[in-house]
Amino acid sequence: MADKSIMSYETVALDDEKSALVILDQTKLPYEVEILSLTDQKDIWNAIYLLQVRGAPAIGVAAGFGVYLAAKQIQADTWDEFYPQFKAAKDYLNSSRPTAVNLSWALNRMEQVVLDNRDKSVPELKELLHKESVAIKDEDVWMCRQIGEYGLTLIKDGDGILTHCNAGQLATSKYGTALAPIHLGRERGMNFRVYTDETRPLLQGARLSAFEMQADGVDTTVICDNMASQVMKNGWVNAVFVGCDRVAANGDACNKIGTSGVAILAKYYGIPFYVLGPTSTIDMSIARGEDITIEQRPAEEVTEMWYKRRMAPEGVKVYNPAFDFADNELIAGIVTEYGIARPPYNESLKEIFKKKAEAEAAKKK
Ligand code: MRU
Repeated sequence: MADKSIMSYETVALDDEKSALVILDQTKLPYEVEILSLTDQKDIWNAIYLLQVRGAPAIGVAAGFGVYLAAKQIQADTWDEFYPQFKAAKDYLNSSRPTAVNLSWALNRMEQVVLDNRDKSVPELKELLHKESVAIKDEDVWMCRQIGEYGLTLIKDGDGILTHCNAGQLATSKYGTALAPIHLGRERGMNFRVYTDETRPLLQGARLSAFEMQADGVDTTVICDNMASQVMKNGWVNAVFVGCDRVAANGDACNKIGTSGVAILAKYYGIPFYVLGPTSTIDMSIARGEDITIEQRPAEEVTEMWYKRRMAPEGVKVYNPAFDFADNELIAGIVTEYGIARPPYNESLKEIFKKKAEAEAAKKK
């Protein structure tokens, strides 16, 4: 067990001197706090694939640092020699997980730096990539705080919040998305009751959300995924807050498997269901949830992991999609760093991006 609060660790960091990506190994939590220092691209790819670093924003930050570290090692004298090697490193990291759009969003952003600077020397390109990767992380902290501020307007002191998976600080650079309002509320002396779905099969709710909520002094109750209906029926839940991995232009919100069921239950019990995520998780190029690629994961995650003995018969078929999506009609609001989008999302998400463009233009002035 950690001798300091898990809240004081960095989820993802860059050690530029050692040319390493530094992550808190999330597969070991809550029992062991192990920091990994990764220098090899294969190890960085594996860390994303194996969920040692996980959660859409944290994956994006890790990929930004990862591709910068790959770029640092490139031996090239000219842009023409540099770019193909950079592109190969980018494509490699981009193949680690398919669903969270933050991975390709961050890598595309890094690639754009190279594409926009054909006139620069290779050492200059490397320095610009360093700056961009650090900016991706710094912006993530700002976005999460903003999401927390907007999310906090949706709840009041004493409320019960149900969450699924982990969209907290452990999934981002700080605060989280779905759990950011809770952390900010705590900073202001507010108290909430948080119900964390255990989140089969990888238990991000039981292992990670419960751990970080407890560390922040929140009244936390772990429930099995199939208990959410009962907890809602008991009248203990005032709102559901979940994160997202990719939101389509119509507001369909893809998140950890089981999210769709929670959204349906919330609708049945008349509880508002909110999705909280940065604009980097909104993919306006995807029209609807059905068009999002859903990652399929190994059968052993269902049948063996977290059990002393394999718990299902040998040879049985297993279906293990890592994500599903909540239909837009089930979602009361999508909370972003530029405000809360409300239905109809085809219009309100465009408004959010308009606000973002205006804010960015004002910053450049
Ligand atoms: O498979 P994971 O653990 O990476 O899935 C994470 C989620 O589904 C989160 O809810 C989502 O990425 C948002 S994290 C702020």
